[in-house]
Amino acid sequence: MKLSRLCILVLALALILCAVPTSAQQRPADIESRINALLARMTLAEKLGQLQQLDGEGNGNFRPEHLDLIRKGLLGSTLNVRGAQRTNQLQHVAMEESRLKIPVLFGFDVIHGYRTIFPIPLAEASSWDPGLAERSASIAAQEARDAGVRWTFAPMLDIARDPRWGRITEGAGEDPYLASAFAGARVRGFQGTDYSAPQKILACAKHWVAYGAGEGGRDYNTTDLSENTLREIYFPPFKAAVDAGVGTVMSAFNDINGVPASANPFTLTRVLRNEWKFDGFVVSDYTSVKELINHGLAANDKDAARLALNAGVDMEMVSRLFNQHGPALLKEGQVSPATIDEAVRRILRIKFRLGLFDHPYTDEAREPNSLLKPESVSAAREIAGRSMVLLKNERQTLPLDKNIRSIAVIGPLADDRRAPLGWWAGDGREENTVTPLAGIRAKVSPQTKVGYAKGCEVKDSLTTGFPEAVALARESDVALVFVGESADMVGEAASRSSLDLPGRQMDLVKAIYETGKPTIVVLVNGRPPTIEWIVDNVPAILESWMGGSQAGNAIADIVFGDVNPGGKLPVTFPRTVGQVPIYYNHMNTGRPPEANNRYTSKYLDVPWTPLFPFGYGLSYTQFKITNLQLSAQSIPANGELQFRVQRLPVNGEVTVTVDVENVGKRAGDEVVQLYIRDVAASMTRPVKELKGFQRVTLQPGEKRRVEFVLTAAQLGFWNREMRFVVEPGEFKVMVGPNSEDLIETKFDVAGR
Ligand code: GLC
Repeated sequence: MKLSRLCILVLALALILCAVPTSAQQRPADIESRINALLARMTLAEKLGQLQQLDGEGNGNFRPEHLDLIRKGLLGSTLNVRGAQRTNQLQHVAMEESRLKIPVLFGFDVIHGYRTIFPIPLAEASSWDPGLAERSASIAAQEARDAGVRWTFAPMLDIARDPRWGRITEGAGEDPYLASAFAGARVRGFQGTDYSAPQKILACAKHWVAYGAGEGGRDYNTTDLSENTLREIYFPPFKAAVDAGVGTVMSAFNDINGVPASANPFTLTRVLRNEWKFDGFVVSDYTSVKELINHGLAANDKDAARLALNAGVDMEMVSRLFNQHGPALLKEGQVSPATIDEAVRRILRIKFRLGLFDHPYTDEAREPNSLLKPESVSAAREIAGRSMVLLKNERQTLPLDKNIRSIAVIGPLADDRRAPLGWWAGDGREENTVTPLAGIRAKVSPQTKVGYAKGCEVKDSLTTGFPEAVALARESDVALVFVGESADMVGEAASRSSLDLPGRQMDLVKAIYETGKPTIVVLVNGRPPTIEWIVDNVPAILESWMGGSQAGNAIADIVFGDVNPGGKLPVTFPRTVGQVPIYYNHMNTGRPPEANNRYTSKYLDVPWTPLFPFGYGLSYTQFKITNLQLSAQSIPANGELQFRVQRLPVNGEVTVTVDVENVGKRAGDEVVQLYIRDVAASMTRPVKELKGFQRVTLQPGEKRRVEFVLTAAQLGFWNREMRFVVEPGEFKVMVGPNSEDLIETKFDVAGR
């Protein structure tokens, strides 16, 4: 064959090969045909094996039984097994020794970081900068992927209106609009646009649904909510995650109106599948299938398996009822073969989309250099700084001068390496945490004397450390007191009946304050605390949350003025736990509170207002928000919008503009917030609802026009007949730096 023909042939072959889609580009039809071919070859035992996820050791190792189960094709996924070498070891068994060579899916809770730990999600939400959460999730994905983890059980999307619930720490707070923005950002950060890409992992929207509404703020507790409230408050962040392409959803522990989330056909099938067209798979929460017996929904294990499978749970986490009772349920016709096949199909679909069949292994050479990269650590510091909230700063107490003569660093959370990592610390290591004490020491001049006194523990009642702390404060120019919660006081199974600072921390703050020295309180915590005495007396307060591996440096950046804080609260801070639930987007009632009218909705013993409102946060500079304008005083009603309608006629919108000006002496960020109120409708509507926000950076003296586009769909709600409607009538538009200090105007939605 002549050379030229050979060249042509080689070139043609190359072009054909290039055209063959990698797993990243494999077409949906290719995936479906590969699934069908595989499904046709699977035994029942192998199918049920794909529906099973088992737990590894806490240290990331797998259990001996996993090898044998995988070899037999009876285990499709693990959780907590991590490390490139360990996951590869299991994967080689699956890909070389099992009959059908279906890869194992390795899941792990990478909630806010794998080894580089970022601020808790509630802190990141305080940045009001979803791009920041996308960035931290992307870094977390890269580290986790190089450690063999292909699936994270995040983002957690539970709206929380009750800070007694320890898991408020894991979400984006009380508002569905803000939480939806962060939901999409985190899914994109973890998954990108194609989660088979080398540095991406599969995400999981959890806990579906309304887990944060547990009565009494008690974890795992009963929820009893109208469908309206479910659809308006608890569903939106999950819809945002599904719209962002999330590959999996986790069914929650809680009972929803008498039907537990892990066996609820309304949420798992009607809403998730039929309304939202979600085509990924649902994994149960940890033994939540077996817990259907405790709920009193299932009479026994087999019943629990039947109820969960028929409702729409595809993979069972840790309990093994699908495997143990699947054959009998099928034989007795209590579960159809189609149900089992559909669950397997959904799981295989995600494994194909993840590229797991084509690229089942992790490059072990990558892991050592992938974790704690300098750029990841500096990102963690920057993100933590943008997530902190300045709650008070009288007489410009902050920022401090780096050349200050002496500083007293006091409190049980001043040098605690574990607390900043939060409850879900991933594969984070305490030795990588920069504590506040370390951050301050690294920040100040060599001449500055930095003293440290713990003063007391977080939880116990001893005050034996007070004298040392008081003495140190007396001999210092300023006292920084770090108080709050330990890592095990937040997160799962960490509900508290009180929101007060635990132990004798409040007494420690008072003792230091009474020395007369300038006192600054820095909170290290995972939920809103009741700190009214501190707010009334201490001149400066910084909410640092649990700021991750770089918390100490970020705190020092703010305290000494290298970073101007710009965060805003994503949750309401109550004055006392007796006010809970207290949230900004409440209904008005027929007797809204009036100070001088007994017969209105308020308390005898405390004000009805919060300690700090939703959206609140200060800066080292000052801003003015003025000149609120609307592009129209009336927009046409789009009438009844069927909830399947995804887009509105372009005329169904109004542009809102406002001026924001930095009237202070230094650059800073302001979060301009847009709220609406539907003044009168066929159902009562909240006194305000967040419908837009923009975090803007302004130089001293700079003035900027900020614009929002308000679409008719954003004015809609679910009515008594459970249809999504936009009704004619007056709407208020309110804009400001938080949910209280607002300027307002109004417009009409015109009747048809
Ligand atoms: C836990 C949590 C869930 C977590 C799962 C796996 O019980 O509820 O958020 O992802 O189990 O650790």
